[in-house]
Amino acid sequence: MGKRTEFLYLNEEEMIKAGVLDAERCIDVEEEIFRLLSTGDYVMGGDKHNSHGIAIKFPAMSEFPNMPLDGPDRRFMAMPAYVGGRFNVTGVKWYGSNIINPQRGLPRSVLMVMLNDPDTCEPIAFMAGNLISSVRTGCVPGVGTRYLARKDAEVCVCVGAGPVSKACFEAIRVEAKNLKEVVIYDLFKEKAEAFAKSVEEKYGLKAWAADSLEEAVKLGDIISVAASSVAPVNITNDWLKPGSLIIFTGRCNIDEPYFSSAKIYWDNAKMHEVYFDEHMQLPEDKRFINGIGVQVYRMMHEGKLPPITEAASLGDVVCGTREGRVSDDERICFITSGMPVWDVGWAYEIYENAKKLGLGQMLKLWDDPYLN
Ligand SMILES: NC(=O)c1ccc[n+]([C@@H]2O[C@H](COP(=O)([O-])OP(=O)(O)OC[C@H]3O[C@@H](n4cnc5c(N)ncnc54)[C@H](O)[C@@H]3O)[C@@H](O)[C@H]2O)c1
Repeated sequence: MGKRTEFLYLNEEEMIKAGVLDAERCIDVEEEIFRLLSTGDYVMGGDKHNSHGIAIKFPAMSEFPNMPLDGPDRRFMAMPAYVGGRFNVTGVKWYGSNIINPQRGLPRSVLMVMLNDPDTCEPIAFMAGNLISSVRTGCVPGVGTRYLARKDAEVCVCVGAGPVSKACFEAIRVEAKNLKEVVIYDLFKEKAEAFAKSVEEKYGLKAWAADSLEEAVKLGDIISVAASSVAPVNITNDWLKPGSLIIFTGRCNIDEPYFSSAKIYWDNAKMHEVYFDEHMQLPEDKRFINGIGVQVYRMMHEGKLPPITEAASLGDVVCGTREGRVSDDERICFITSGMPVWDVGWAYEIYENAKKLGLGQMLKLWDDPYLN
């Protein structure tokens, strides 16, 4: 007789009851994971154990009528990781992204997370992933704000008014204790206005929609960029105030003099080394075009900035082994392209909460594995 295996299934409603929207808690959990990143107690995919994940990208044209075609933010992606420390769990986030989904009443990306026992390899949970992903994505800028923003930051600028930008704001708000004003810029002003209205109603902060990117960015003490890649976000060096923190959660370009004078921190420089190497394997005219922070990779490649191997990771600042903000005047850029360690760690926390609260449904894999 073999071993019975069952796992917990959690739908989105149950995820919410188990606390997935709790940004304050998630920031602390992500901070813990930043420490594990710094000490090395994690493994991600690929030869260097630092891959963001593997994507299915569709061709521009196909002879097969059902095959999806390439487009902005169009992909499927598997993002596996082992997270150490008290988590000691393996898992994968699996998602598809299609920019026309909102027209069908669906989010742009649809995500699931699976957790597995790292020893027996059995599944322990299968859960709705959209909120895990958006909250963890937002809470990384929350940790960035905790360590890199001026303590007296009063104005937060949000570029993009989609779910990821909203999640970033939720977490930045927790950490920016002196916040007074929120300025939102989106290509669609009505989306920015709706976001501003919800911020005013929920938090009583002054919030409004800007007419231009320039108008918004010039005001920001903290600028959070989380727009989709339908149109580039191009920022000019002199729009950014002394002491400002700009966080790239989505793609963003700033003209080169900014990067030569600002401090740059990465979510995990080791992962960006892998990305950098992947770009170097592409033909020259295809390098450093797609991805968050690729402009900085290009400057590194051209010798205009120190190499990626010397780049600073936020985890090292969290652990105190690398200097963070040292003055109120310095301008800082924090670049985060996301990692499965955060999905898996936050999913594990919610799974533990759900077990304590008796939420979810146990599903049987087998009573006795057929191929035992
Ligand atoms: N770094 C990470 O960990 C991470 C994780 C998840 C998603 N993301 C990125 O976050 C971005 C936003 O995700 P989402 O789900 O909220 O997307 P979404 O498509 O639902 O919303 C994006 C919003 O950005 C706006 N926008 C697009 N281009 C703009 C521009 N140039 N200026 C101003 N607004 C602009 C759109 O109008 C839209 O309202 C995506 O690009 C995604 O790849 C990053």
